[in-house]
Amino acid sequence: MSNPDELLRIEGIRKTFPGVVALDGVDFDLRRGEVHVLLGENGAGKSTLIKMLSGAYRPDGGRILVGGEEVRIHGAQDSERLGIATIYQEFNLVPDLTVAENIFLGRQPRRLGMIDRKRMEADAEVLLARVGVNVSPRARVRELGIARLQMVEIAKALSLDARVLIMDEPTAVLTSEEVEKLFAIVRALREDGVGIVFITHHLEEIAALGDRVTVLRDGRSVGQVPASTSEDELVRLMVGRSIEQQYPRERADTGAALLTVEGLTSDGVFHDISFQVHAGEVVGIAGLVGAGRTEVVRAVFGADPYDKGDVKVAGERLRRHDVNAAMTAGIGLVPEDRKGQGLVLDASVEENLGLVTMRSATRAGLVDLKAQHVAAERIAGQLGVRMAGLGQHVRTLSGGNQQKVVIGKWLLADTRVLILDEPTRGIDVGAKVEIYQLINELTAAGAAVLMISSDLPEVLGMSDRVLVMAQGRIAGELAADEATQDAVMALAVSTPTTEGEAPRGR
Ligand SMILES: Nc1ncnc2c1ncn2[C@@H]1O[C@H](COP(=O)(O)OP(=O)(O)OP(=O)(O)O)[C@@H](O)[C@H]1O
Ligand SMILES: [Mg+2]
Repeated sequence: MSNPDELLRIEGIRKTFPGVVALDGVDFDLRRGEVHVLLGENGAGKSTLIKMLSGAYRPDGGRILVGGEEVRIHGAQDSERLGIATIYQEFNLVPDLTVAENIFLGRQPRRLGMIDRKRMEADAEVLLARVGVNVSPRARVRELGIARLQMVEIAKALSLDARVLIMDEPTAVLTSEEVEKLFAIVRALREDGVGIVFITHHLEEIAALGDRVTVLRDGRSVGQVPASTSEDELVRLMVGRSIEQQYPRERADTGAALLTVEGLTSDGVFHDISFQVHAGEVVGIAGLVGAGRTEVVRAVFGADPYDKGDVKVAGERLRRHDVNAAMTAGIGLVPEDRKGQGLVLDASVEENLGLVTMRSATRAGLVDLKAQHVAAERIAGQLGVRMAGLGQHVRTLSGGNQQKVVIGKWLLADTRVLILDEPTRGIDVGAKVEIYQLINELTAAGAAVLMISSDLPEVLGMSDRVLVMAQGRIAGELAADEATQDAVMALAVSTPTTEGEAPRGR
């Protein structure tokens, strides 16, 4: 007998890729008007499971039932026809099309056989307003930042009026304000009887939004629990052990200033940015999205030009807008957009891990492939990269494991100044701790770390000092013992003074 409230049911689903059993007999069901959270470590099989429903992959075994009837989903159109809309973890928008064109891709409203642009843009406008994002339907997707891309994806899914909405880590790239907007939308959809499959690595979101949780580990379901389950218990189910300390920062001895930024200004983007990061130090940069944090570190790394000011590494001035000079001086940058900037997707894990090291070795005239292999093996092991082997293409790694490779690449490269822009986005709770341990090792060895993060507990938990940016300026600086969520937020929403020194935090 099928339950009238049951929207879909998955029974004993299996999926194997070369060298990996991604799903090993998973059961899952979704009811009308509920948020069912899928939880699991990086590589546990969450995205693979939902790709069976969106038609991206076909199962090797098991059954999928929609409304009590067994179905075969052979592509996106089958999925859509069954009332299923999917927001993927990796963006699926076409960069050269406009926002409206992306939202209605393949379903553009027509008039007399022609695409009705006016109507399409008006409809898009309504959807964009509904998700509360301020972007023109005529803007090219290429020009949007990562948070706005995500909001466009959400608008697109809403336009399908689906009965089942699947969201694969929708909050990974959103700020707390945007997350609140998203939650309001999800709650309204739930009220309307939509069933929502929600994937997240942010445990606090589970109690706030979820109804039930299915936990996957190594391609199997290890439990189904209510969303009110304690975070400790969820972690235990997910990683098979408890985590003692979520932010294990071990302070190192600090030495000379390795990175000095003086009066850095990019007209209209950021102004008069001055700070230092010393050997052994972790300096966090907090602030709201749009405060200019990413823009500043991209300029420091030489990826973007700037108009005034200086960047010095160990006292030596760097040529502006010259990534090679920055890298040669020992600066590394883990960018926020891993797919766009951090990885060569069709190269292997080993090749990606070796990208930076290779470069300096080739310059020195010798490449020790054996040593490189050993080093890649070591770092992949330390970070717990889940893969079939070092030869696996990065494209086929799970989202979180791709992020680990971006970080691993710089850890291998002997960087003196490591800049991390949202380093643990999409990383599971267990693997985060491993990354923090590696940051400890780096600073203990005398490196300087500059970390942007929108995850406040992370900035507060791992930084020795916190700079807070607002409106393109440094609004203040807080020592670790004065940095509280309230103190950071007060500075983040402040209007920084335009004259003289940035004020010290209170
Ligand atoms: N196309 C593919 N080819 C080979 N292996 C794949 C492919 N797609 C997924 N995998 C493998 O299947 C496993 C499960 O991956 P999946 O993306 O489902 O993990 P996930 O739970 O979504 O992880 P994350 O939290 O990192 O997003 C991983 O080991 C991954 O490398
Ligand atoms: Mg995934």
